[in-house]
Amino acid sequence: MKTIIEPFRIKVVEPIQMTTREEREVILKEAGYNLFCVDADKVLIDLLTDSGTGAMSSEQWAGIMRGDESYAGAISFHRFYDRVVEITGFSEVLPTHQGRASERILFEVMGGPGLVVPNNSHFDTTRANVEASGAKAVDLVIDEAYDPKSRNPFKGNMNIDRLQQLFAEVGVSKIPLVMLTVTNNSGGGQPVSLANIREVRKVCDDHGVPLFLDACRFAENAYFIKLREPGMADRTVSSIVREMFDLADGATISAKKYGLANIGGLLLFRDAALARQARNLLILTEGFPTYGGLAGRDLEAIAQGLEEVLHEDYLRYRIRSVAYLGERLLAGGVQIVEPPGGHAVYIDATAFCPHLTPEQFPAQAVVCALYRHAGVRGVEIGSLMFGGDGQAPEMELVRLALPRRTYTQSHIDYVIEAVLEVFAERDKIKPLEIVEAPAQLRHFTARLRELDG
Ligand code: F0G
Repeated sequence: MKTIIEPFRIKVVEPIQMTTREEREVILKEAGYNLFCVDADKVLIDLLTDSGTGAMSSEQWAGIMRGDESYAGAISFHRFYDRVVEITGFSEVLPTHQGRASERILFEVMGGPGLVVPNNSHFDTTRANVEASGAKAVDLVIDEAYDPKSRNPFKGNMNIDRLQQLFAEVGVSKIPLVMLTVTNNSGGGQPVSLANIREVRKVCDDHGVPLFLDACRFAENAYFIKLREPGMADRTVSSIVREMFDLADGATISAKKYGLANIGGLLLFRDAALARQARNLLILTEGFPTYGGLAGRDLEAIAQGLEEVLHEDYLRYRIRSVAYLGERLLAGGVQIVEPPGGHAVYIDATAFCPHLTPEQFPAQAVVCALYRHAGVRGVEIGSLMFGGDGQAPEMELVRLALPRRTYTQSHIDYVIEAVLEVFAERDKIKPLEIVEAPAQLRHFTARLRELDG
């Protein structure tokens, strides 16, 4: 059989509230053309993020009932700990309330003024936490990552020459760690190959510097390795996952992605001394080491989720449903970041709206047009998000992120139809202008208005 089905049945449903185009026009205006300011019940298909928005399995809900809420030594922590050790091999396991809490603790321990942290591409909270420690965040992804049409199978790879150059330029004493984000969210959800992780490891070994993974989407990355990297097809995803982690000295993970949970994070180390420092900070702001920033029931949900993400039926369906959306848009003439990523399709808004300049926020204009036309909520990754310092980013993108196990194929068909209908009338998409915005992270709260042509 060729048809790939959703590998689950639906036991609980959440109704979607329908709205008309006229209603959405008013909602959009009231929200200042900023979809972060629209209430979720006014959204038909919510593709704002794949973070914490997935559906949990019946086994995860069963775990929620089993949750041991003891302050110290909760049995739920042991279940969580055993699963994490089994999958990753890291013995130092700190539970946090989400990925960015792990990042804050990591960089409080390892960052600091005058230091430089290289990554393929920092996600925005990772960058913010590196910079909050006083260090500088440097992106060293390969050049193809910035070419939406390049079909390099591992567009998330680190540029090894530039990494070597950075060590030569700033000196090893200024680089406390190297990070790799798998998959590379800021660059289109693109994977990093095992060969590249090994090369980065070698550079780290040559300089005696640790390698950390931002492993939010580790399972999708491993599945791409299985599909695309020579010699990997016959390996299990869990053995590839294990090799990825074996090559690293530590990791930050948002369990809102690959814990298949609604909240949670992990901070992982091999080094006991580093873990001790981090645990002291954990107690200060997250919680006692056997629950961190989480309830016992969350630990149960994550422990079970970490098992389910390695099911290859699930991963086949997951990667295929994102590819289906991407391929249909491409076939309809919409330029996306090729090939489609692991968790999202990224529309190239520069190609979509050639009549708009970066100052006119083309990607935000497409986000608004999609919402107005069909109630679909995507997110801008372009000049509104990153242009606050007056510099245009490399690309103007609209990310359509697919929550895990939440929408069916007909929902995706609806999204495809919506994008193609907006595309057919793209010359009518109007420029936007900022009315008011805070100095930092302005995309969350900025108010905009539409200009006439
Ligand atoms: N690293 C990456 C690569 C991420 O994509 C995210 C979150 C984080 C770290 C932070 O994790 O949200 O649990 O604190 N990404 C979400 C997104 C928010 O929509 O891409 P968190």
